[in-house]
Formats: sequence, structure tokens, C-alpha cells
Amino acid sequence: MFVVVGVSGGIAAYKSVQLVRGLVTAGHEVHVIPTEDALRFVGTTTWEAISRHPVTTSVHDDVADVRHVSLGTRADLVIVAPATANTLARMAAGIADDLLGVTLLATTAPVLVAPAMHTAMWEHPATRENMAVLRARGVQVIGPEDGPLTGGDSGPGRMSEPDDILAAALAIVPDRTDLAGLTVAVSTGGTREPIDPVRFLGNRSSGTQGAEVAVAAADRGAHVRLVAAYVDEGVLAAALRHPRVTVVRVATAVELRTAMLAASADADVAVMVAAVADYRVAEVSDHKLRKEDGTPTLDLVTNPDVLAELVAQRQVGQTIVGFAAETAADDAELRERGRRKRARKGVDLLAVNAVGWDQGFGAGENAVIVLDASDGVRAEVAGDKRAVADGLWDAVASVRG
Ligand SMILES: Cc1cc2nc3c(=O)[nH]c(=O)nc-3n(C[C@H](O)[C@H](O)[C@H](O)COP(=O)(O)O)c2cc1C
Repeated sequence: MFVVVGVSGGIAAYKSVQLVRGLVTAGHEVHVIPTEDALRFVGTTTWEAISRHPVTTSVHDDVADVRHVSLGTRADLVIVAPATANTLARMAAGIADDLLGVTLLATTAPVLVAPAMHTAMWEHPATRENMAVLRARGVQVIGPEDGPLTGGDSGPGRMSEPDDILAAALAIVPDRTDLAGLTVAVSTGGTREPIDPVRFLGNRSSGTQGAEVAVAAADRGAHVRLVAAYVDEGVLAAALRHPRVTVVRVATAVELRTAMLAASADADVAVMVAAVADYRVAEVSDHKLRKEDGTPTLDLVTNPDVLAELVAQRQVGQTIVGFAAETAADDAELRERGRRKRARKGVDLLAVNAVGWDQGFGAGENAVIVLDASDGVRAEVAGDKRAVADGLWDAVASVRG
């Protein structure tokens, strides 16, 4: 894994030497980016010797390598340890006046900060607000711990121990590349079938599960084509930032069919998570239907069955995965419906999940049963939608051998 370790100007910088050493010993490629102030605590010589890479604070060194962008874009993970009050404030404000600031803006990788400062600084409203901003942006935080501080005081503000930071870092980016080299196509979101220029038939899909399936595959090394119909605000943010995800936007089932068949043509795996409308309106009105025209009757026609078409055009070695959102009275009925659907569709794997008025939609938890072609249960996963996505990819990896 390619790890950038940002170091800012606190006494705890000396402990980050051990963190860098631990990462290097574990086989990771580590690039240290100190702030100018950090170098007053631990110098360039130490960082270069420990990381075995050149170290600079400035965007004006190694300009030919476009170092100010390349470190951030190549990073799988950025750790800032220690993170001073000043550096956290700069991060919250997006200030990019040194190599660390620019790298933090250029990266799409997960960011872990290990704050270290006097308790009064940590508890100051400015720092609290900055931390809230960073957390809301998805920055992960470890510590600070409660204990003795430089200067003789004691309280929250000690940087977490290097081994704990290392463990937290590896938990954020599980070092998995089991899908490297695969190209996968994933669909997500709900289609909208127009009735007239302002109205549509839609569904409650938020697109969250499909976006997580896409990002999980990309995190595990795959190249992902994500065909996204309508999704909730913010759902695609991580996918759009991910260097291995390409997003294609569609609106209707017919558009989704075209995009998904194209995306899947030479893909190793195709996963249909999108909630594709089964029907569309036979004749879309070119003007807004008006009340005074009387109550309209909508004639519906059946939309193409995208999953069936994917199965029909399946290439040798291609794995096709469907999702079935089912309402069922109980678990037995859910499984039975799933089995019948898997056989009918001819997919390699079918992820069956129970949906209802308060189940299955949005950012909450999900639970799926993954059925395989011999009608066996290949996996049962429950948890947040990322966990479900990873469980699904484990199942895909196991059927592909
Ligand atoms: C001995 C010493 C220890 C310091 N320790 C901390 C610290 O632990 N946390 C912190 O936020 N600032 C600490 N500071 C203050 C920072 O070094 C100062 O705010 C600096 O501007 C931080 O710059 P940087 O965030 O760009 O590295 C310390 C200063 C000195 C002289």
C-alpha cells in the first residue's frame, strides 16, 4: 500500500518515527510530508532514512514529477500524525500553502488524523468545530488519549501510540487487492419513467448499496464502470472521487439497459443493483397533463429485462450477479422467492434482500442472502452497506475461484 504520512509540529513527531518504521517494516511504501514547523522537532535526515524516500515540505521541489499532486493521487491512505491544532484548522479550511496541505486536497484516499495538543487547545471551540467539519467530510480520527502532556499538565491531548495508529490505519484500508485486474460493471439507483415533462414513475431506491458495491470493488483493486440512475444526494461522492471508478448517468430503464450492456460487454463481472422499473408509460405526454383534462389512465408497457439480457450475452468466464429486493412474510418465503428468481434469471449469484416500508432503503443497514447456481447459500451478510458490499465481493471471488 502507498501511504503518505503527514507530520506537523508537535513534540509527538518523535513518536511518528516509530509509526513510519512500523509501516515500512510491514512492507508499505511510505512517503513522509512534514510541515516546516515539524522539521524543528524531527529533521529531514531522520524521515528520509526511515522512509527511504526523499522528503520535502515545499510544492516547489521536484516540480517535474508534479509531486504536489502525485503523492496525493497515488496514496491509498494518508495519515497525519501528530495533527496539531494548526494543521487541523488548515485542513478544515482547505488551506494548501505547503506540500502537506496540497496533498490533502489532491487525495481521494481515506485520511486518518492523530491529533496531539494541550487539553485547552483540544477543547477550544475552534478546534472542536474544525474536528466536526473534518469528521463530517469522512476524515477518520484516532485519539487523542488522556494522560500526561508536555509541560507537566495531564488530560486529553496525548497522541495515540504508534502501534494503535498503525492498527487503525490498516483497519481503514484493509490491505486487499483480491479484485485487482478485474473489470466490473455495476448498476445502481432507481430509474424514472416519464409520464409527462414534469412527472415520472419511480421507486425508493437511494442508490447507496450499488455505490458501495462499486467503491468496495475499486478499493479491492478492480476497475469499475458504475451505471447510475437516480440516486440520493451525496451517494456518488466516493465513487466520483475514486480513481478506478467511471460513472455513467442514466435516467430511464431503456437508457440503463443500453449503458449496462455496453459497460458489461467485456467486463469480468456484472452486478445489477439498480432498481429498474418493470414498466414504463406507453405514451409519454409531451405537455404537462392538466386536471381539467380529467383523470388520466396510464397504459404501461413492460421494460426490457436487463438482467436477462446480460445473462443472454454472457461471455466465457463472466460472472453475473443480480439483486432481488423482495417483500416476504418470513425468512423461508424470502429464500424460496430468491431461489425461484435465481433459477428463472440464470444468474451466477443472486443477492436477496428483504425490503419493506422501513427496510432496505437509504443509508441504513442491510442484510442479504447470496444464492449461488446450485441453489446453495454462498454468503449471508448483514451490517452497513459497505459490509454487505464486501460480503458480496467475497462471494463473487469464491465462485470465480
Ligand atoms: C515545544 C513545542 C511543542 C508543541 N506541541 C504542540 C502540540 O502538541 N500540538 C499543537 O497543536 N501545537 C504544538 N505546538 C505549537 C505548534 O508547533 C505551532 O502551532 C505550529 O505553528 C504548528 O505548525 P504546523 O501545524 O504547520 O506544523 C508546539 C510548539 C512547541 C514549541
